[in-house]
Amino acid sequence: MGKNLVFMPECHSTNSYALELCQQSSLVPEGTVVITDNQTAGRGQRGNQWLTAPGKNFTFSILFKPSFLRMRDQFYLNVFTSLSIYDYLLEKGCSTIRIKWPNDIYIGSKKICGILIENVVTGDRFSNVIIGIGLNVNQDQFSVDTATSMQLELGRMFDLSSELEELLAFIEARYLKLRRDQLQAMMMEYLLLMYWRGERHVFSDSNGQFEGTITGLDESGRLKILTNSGENSFAMKEISYVE
Ligand code: BTN
Repeated sequence: MGKNLVFMPECHSTNSYALELCQQSSLVPEGTVVITDNQTAGRGQRGNQWLTAPGKNFTFSILFKPSFLRMRDQFYLNVFTSLSIYDYLLEKGCSTIRIKWPNDIYIGSKKICGILIENVVTGDRFSNVIIGIGLNVNQDQFSVDTATSMQLELGRMFDLSSELEELLAFIEARYLKLRRDQLQAMMMEYLLLMYWRGERHVFSDSNGQFEGTITGLDESGRLKILTNSGENSFAMKEISYVE
């Protein structure tokens, strides 16, 4: 992982660039990392923008070719990536790290990392999967009070190039677990780390707001919420966390 490293001082979106590379050639090796110091049109989930201070944080994308993964196990791409960021942050000394389904990483009630997974499917197999990671490292001011960084949490600055090596090693280790089919074990860990799981909170769907408790995930990785009228499963675009 990262042996083929494409560094660009400035880039529109490392996910878009990595996708473009794959479209140009099928020979781009698995584990290729596209990284930039200044991402000018970063993309987030649900069509959102990803804004980040230049030179201070991680904005990179990794190319995977998980042809071994069954389509029905697609959610495990979220699982292994989220757990690898968790492993890294834990090792750095962060506490109260939670995974906000499907793949935001939180410290307490603040987001420290966002993940954007984009797939190219050929037939019934994944040919290319681009996993984009935006991790707040040395940024100490945010325009919203729901964001945090490693510096804010741990009170020190980090050298991005040596941290990248460490972070990639954690990602590789979890990817190898995925490849070795350790799906159930990783799912157990994911469930234990889920933000708001087992607590009563307010959510919203297309019918408005409602109260419920996250109980877990269904077999497709959809969020299961128990309300007064029973248990329902939601896909990512169908539900928002309110309070
Ligand atoms: C989210 O929380 O909505 C996901 C954010 C993902 C941001 C990363 S930064 C590197 C990569 N390139 C992008 O354009 N997006 C991802």
